[in-house]
Amino acid sequence: MTKAKRSSPAARVAELRRLVEHHLYRYHVLDDPELSDAAYDALYDELQALEDQHPKLVSPDSPTQRVGAPPADGFRKVAHLSPMGSLEKVTTAEALSKWADDVRKRLGTDEPVAYVLEPKIDGSAVSLVYENGVYMRGATRGDGLRGEDVTGNLRTLQSVPLRLLEQDGTRPPDVLEVRGEIYFPLAGFAQFTEAQLAAGRKPAPNARNAAAGSLRQLNPAVTAERPLSIYVYGVGVRGDAGPPTQWETLAWLRELGFRTNPDAERLESIEEVAEACAAWEARRGQLGYEIDGIVIKVDSFVQQETLGSLHGRPRFARAYKWAPTAAVTRLLAIHVRVGRTGVLNPLAELEPVQVGGVTVSSATLHNEDDIRRKDIRVGDLVVVQRAGDVIPQVVGPAGEHESGTKPWRMPKRCPLCRTGIVKPEGEVMHRCPNRACPSRGLETLYHWAGSAMDIEGVGGNTIKKLWDEGLVRSLPDLYRVTTEQLEVLEGYAEISAARAIASIERSKEQPFSRVLFGLNIPKVGWVIARNLALHFGSVDALVAATQSELEEVEGVGPDRAVLIAEWFSDEENQALVAELRDLGIQMVSAEQARPVEGSLTGQQFVITGTLESLKREDAKAALEALGAKVSESVSGKTTGVIVGESPGSKAQKAEKLGVPVLSEDDLTALLRAR
Ligand code: IVH
Repeated sequence: MTKAKRSSPAARVAELRRLVEHHLYRYHVLDDPELSDAAYDALYDELQALEDQHPKLVSPDSPTQRVGAPPADGFRKVAHLSPMGSLEKVTTAEALSKWADDVRKRLGTDEPVAYVLEPKIDGSAVSLVYENGVYMRGATRGDGLRGEDVTGNLRTLQSVPLRLLEQDGTRPPDVLEVRGEIYFPLAGFAQFTEAQLAAGRKPAPNARNAAAGSLRQLNPAVTAERPLSIYVYGVGVRGDAGPPTQWETLAWLRELGFRTNPDAERLESIEEVAEACAAWEARRGQLGYEIDGIVIKVDSFVQQETLGSLHGRPRFARAYKWAPTAAVTRLLAIHVRVGRTGVLNPLAELEPVQVGGVTVSSATLHNEDDIRRKDIRVGDLVVVQRAGDVIPQVVGPAGEHESGTKPWRMPKRCPLCRTGIVKPEGEVMHRCPNRACPSRGLETLYHWAGSAMDIEGVGGNTIKKLWDEGLVRSLPDLYRVTTEQLEVLEGYAEISAARAIASIERSKEQPFSRVLFGLNIPKVGWVIARNLALHFGSVDALVAATQSELEEVEGVGPDRAVLIAEWFSDEENQALVAELRDLGIQMVSAEQARPVEGSLTGQQFVITGTLESLKREDAKAALEALGAKVSESVSGKTTGVIVGESPGSKAQKAEKLGVPVLSEDDLTALLRAR
């Protein structure tokens, strides 16, 4: 075997950082990922492992350094490099056209004016400062002159670049200050609300509050758990860099690595602007984020400067805002849904009504205490609100109670399995304690297939049908479904069924961190699952972990540690894990398994093609037992590629990179010799 070309750790770390940043950009900014999540994870994990081995190579702008320590004495106040103003609002087409007249009068009536329209995201405004291309500081808007220093929290957002992308060799400006809106995407907000309710906490009333609250968490690890995102919409300070119009600036910001809203548009007359605003109002309910209006800006910066501002409000821009989003309708019923952790969520069934551009027929009702405090009764007319939030809420009765209505009570028994409902001391939420409750099982399956394991082609409807047919009642059941069983279900044909089965099969390769996330362990969200996987490396280590060992994991405090330890010591859960392991689900963290010291320590192999004498997993296990790592993709770091029958492109890649190619015989010899 010839010696593999190995780059120095420093060079590899630099290369991995560049790759990780590139793929984050593809994912978050261009919305066009080139890698699967697992392949991205492998790069990230390799970087993390190298940095762990060589702590001197760690630098604050490394993508692994997103979650840092809490600020010792709370958030400092910081002065903005230039004031962050606010926008004058207009609410009618007439007011809009009056503004355009004023703009024209001030600029001279012959001058053409173009406008840029941007959805006005309902989140929390922030300023990000980059010095020589490196992220240095992030702050909230505050009073416009001074905000709070939330540098560490903003760093946890993968969509905030830590280092600006190079522009054809031109250096980024010495100081660049950009402004944007941090927001909670609606899908994430719905999940977050559910999790808050399950944990007995009061959920945020809307996505904006949730975003602002998440940004002001003292512990960045908490912010990191929230799926916050950013749309950058402007520049504060930029020296003399950048283009002369708002429209081109958005493109420039995107090239620098910032996430800008792809829905922005440039229009050349105020009539078109008015039409577009009306169209936006109708689209409002279909976006993945909340907006409370449209921002209209004069495109040219020269014109913007000529127009200037009045009391910190630019004359060159307006916020076109819609009427408030509340309506009155009748509360037809209150249903109770059982979530995947057994929490009971009351849901209002409403007479359908138009609220803020969408038809609303159901709304959340948080919990029994809340319903009773507001005295919301079935049969009453109620006020429904979508105050910039996804999930409409019942605010309260619209007037007097109808005669004959009575205060609502949580049912005594679970609506699905009839088990007696419990409300643990000190908690606000009721729970169904039956672990076999059908709804709980179903929700767990939705979570597993939809979020955790990302099983394509197996959506909620399929799972519901499989459940109703009695074919799937647990996670392991999902792996026993056959193509024949699927193809007879409505919505499937032979090919789609085979595809769905293939993606169920593929989910067995999902990394251990995702498996942990999918297992529905109380208070184990995506970030904690990942931290646990990194720290312990295997389910066996987790089962063996004591409470204090669990607390060593980032983000795991005493409360969580107790719940996690309880979950893993439960016999039924252990049986579930064993069954999933037997089915081939990853119960060991591939990249992060604690390194075994052995004769192959430090070496990294890739296996491709079918091996004759042993299964691929067994070859992998044998190599790992000797301390080697076995990874999915060939890189400059790979020691050797083991090639079996009908190898894939990995063998070619090995040749290209000059990585030694080993036959199955070489492998046997290698294993025997040690
Ligand atoms: S431009 C002088 N553009 O709206 C202020 N603001 O009232 C210029 N916002 O604090 C702001 N999306 O939180 C601008 N595309 C956008 C925006 C936007 C949301 C928020 C921002 C700001 C408030 C202005």
